[in-house]
Amino acid sequence: MINGIGIGLRPEIIEALLVNELPLPAFVELSPEHWIGVGGYNRHMLDKVVSRYPIMGHGLSLSLGSPDPLDWDFLKKVKAFMVETSMVLFSEHLSFSKCGNAHLNGLFPLPFRYDAAKQMIERIKQVQDYIGRQIAIENISYYTTLAPEMNESEFLSLIAEEADCLLLLDVSNVFVNGSNHGYDPKTFISQLPLNRIGYIHLAGNYVDEDGHIIDSHDRPVNESVRELLDWTVPQIAPVPVLVERDLNFPEDYRKIYKELEELQAILDKHWKPFYAK
Ligand SMILES: [Fe+2]
Repeated sequence: MINGIGIGLRPEIIEALLVNELPLPAFVELSPEHWIGVGGYNRHMLDKVVSRYPIMGHGLSLSLGSPDPLDWDFLKKVKAFMVETSMVLFSEHLSFSKCGNAHLNGLFPLPFRYDAAKQMIERIKQVQDYIGRQIAIENISYYTTLAPEMNESEFLSLIAEEADCLLLLDVSNVFVNGSNHGYDPKTFISQLPLNRIGYIHLAGNYVDEDGHIIDSHDRPVNESVRELLDWTVPQIAPVPVLVERDLNFPEDYRKIYKELEELQAILDKHWKPFYAK
């Protein structure tokens, strides 16, 4: 069991993570796509990180929402990498990123429709059967809906229940989508099967010139998302919580640690009595 806040493994911070003398981060998240097949010095650095921190895996390219067959060669490599890194949990997105021979550089939303849910459920089950473990599925940020037959929380809940998978609740994405699509983030979270939440993501965002909120991962987690985290945490059992910072790292890494400490204080307020020793 991981109690606390983690951060994504990025080249900008890997050295700092290895000389770190603080109790945080409690874990590190990495994307297998960035590390499978890597050798030499970079693999040496990864091994040092793995020996020091618990590892959460976050896939980017399985494209579970695609109609194409799964990439079994890649999945085989992921399965082996999970063992090599003693990965605590593997997560992927409720999205598609490839179709036929087109590999798209992004995570695209599925239509909130029964046929898309059925497809997604089958694919999650295939992955779970193959790796022999539950995976977690993340709600993505999206900027348009596609001919929906149900709302997003119904879509997500249906898939999680039928596939018997965990949810990676990206609290920032709920805030971004709620703001952009006009729904209440707290109502959205309340409608999910809360006992399936096994992991939480947080990230920075900004408001563009048209008033849309953009999920940017390039700045600290804002006050609205912190408030939504503070509301969510007491409703669920302790789970790992990740700060996703992909761009625009401060030169002084201690600023990131300060953010981790502030967010850890929110978790401690509600979860400290329940932390596993
Ligand atoms: Fe996320």
